Amino acid sequence: MPVVVFHRNGEAYRGEVKENTNLVVRAGIKQFPFPHLRYECGMGKCARCACRVLSGGDQLPPPNWKEKKQLGERLEAGYRLACQLWIEHDIELEQDELPVEA
Ligand code: FES
Repeated sequence: MPVVVFHRNGEAYRGEVKENTNLVVRAGIKQFPFPHLRYECGMGKCARCACRVLSGGDQLPPPNWKEKKQLGERLEAGYRLACQLWIEHDIELEQDELPVEA
């Protein structure tokens, strides 16, 4: 099962998730990475779930149109929208203290 390491405010949180897991859906039902993951719409519209992928990004599918629209050049810096990712492999993510601008 994929292992997710989630960094926020200088802390690292680690959890194992089922394959094909969406971290925003899990946070919504109060499972890891709750309560650390910031999110709002769950639909790729607000960018509040944006995270920088520190490792495992090469295993992710390419960004979808919502990520391209919300993140623009930040995609090149490794940002993705957590609500648009279905995790199938180990991954390490970091969320900035302040949300990125949508
Ligand atoms: S939660 Fe709004 S874009 Fe992901």
